[in-house]
Amino acid sequence: MNEQAKDLIKLMEKELESYNTKFLTISSGKGGVGKTSFAVNFAYILANFFNKKVLLIDADVGMANIHVLLNLKPKKDIRKIIEETDISNLIEKKENIDILPGFSGIEEIREIEDYALTRLIQKLSDISNRYDYILIDTSAGIDNRVISFIRAASRSYIIVTPEPTSMTDAYALIKSIRKLYGYSKFKLIVNMAESKREGMVTYNRLRESAKRFLDMDLQLAGILPKTKNMTFSIKKKEIFCKIFSKDRYTIELKKISSKELGESVPVESGQSFWGRVLRFLRRG
Ligand SMILES: Nc1ncnc2c1ncn2[C@@H]1O[C@H](COP(=O)(O)OP(=O)(O)OP(=O)(O)O)[C@@H](O)[C@H]1O
Ligand SMILES: [Mg+2]
Repeated sequence: MNEQAKDLIKLMEKELESYNTKFLTISSGKGGVGKTSFAVNFAYILANFFNKKVLLIDADVGMANIHVLLNLKPKKDIRKIIEETDISNLIEKKENIDILPGFSGIEEIREIEDYALTRLIQKLSDISNRYDYILIDTSAGIDNRVISFIRAASRSYIIVTPEPTSMTDAYALIKSIRKLYGYSKFKLIVNMAESKREGMVTYNRLRESAKRFLDMDLQLAGILPKTKNMTFSIKKKEIFCKIFSKDRYTIELKKISSKELGESVPVESGQSFWGRVLRFLRRG
């Protein structure tokens, strides 16, 4: 790393020490389990029912699609983000949520030189302190960039469904990060549960494996029911919890949000989220 880049990282870490922004990642082992739906609705509830300042970042490597769900047309890709002097120009707003969409070019991050990468992270760190919560919707699976985000986050929500393949893949993701970095700040969301009981069975299986093989107490954030209304809201490009405020999914998500707010985890001292991400991206 060149000296200029090192100086920038130092500056960034110093500036962020005192901020109290919480960084939450939303990930899964298997794809298509409801991460993006959860991320968008979680952001909506935190912003509209709990009056939190929320930034939602679409960091899905392969298929960024928050903008599709929210009916937004992102102006620029990651190369433009790097060139853009003021990152605020790239933020879209909808339903009191700030959104940084179309982060999909992040797969090219390896090709981007050190200084440009540092600039990108610095731009994000420049705006982080404006928010209470920064939610990062990642791609599915065990990818170095996903690990970088999870490893640096105050808390990592792992979405799983009761399907055996989803459970196996969620376990594999948790296991990798636990074994590699000793990280254990996971919160499990069982999504698309047919019943509370099915949700608990799913959680208990993963919890037992985590206890037995990873020496870890895996926490449950909540169980979200399967709802036929989800497809309707996506087709309408409307936020589910807004148009189905009485649906069980919305009620349970409100409980998850209130739990999150009551249990906020302090950011590790002396290290900023973006500084930690940068360090792991470089290592990977
Ligand atoms: N609780 C739910 N009940 C019914 N359908 C759901 C539920 N949650 C999500 N879905 C549906 O599952 C599909 C996948 O959802 P979503 O795109 O949020 O998953 P994802 O994990 O982000 O997928 P990807 O891995 O491709 O990014 C969508 O069609 C969505 O409508
Ligand atoms: Mg998604």
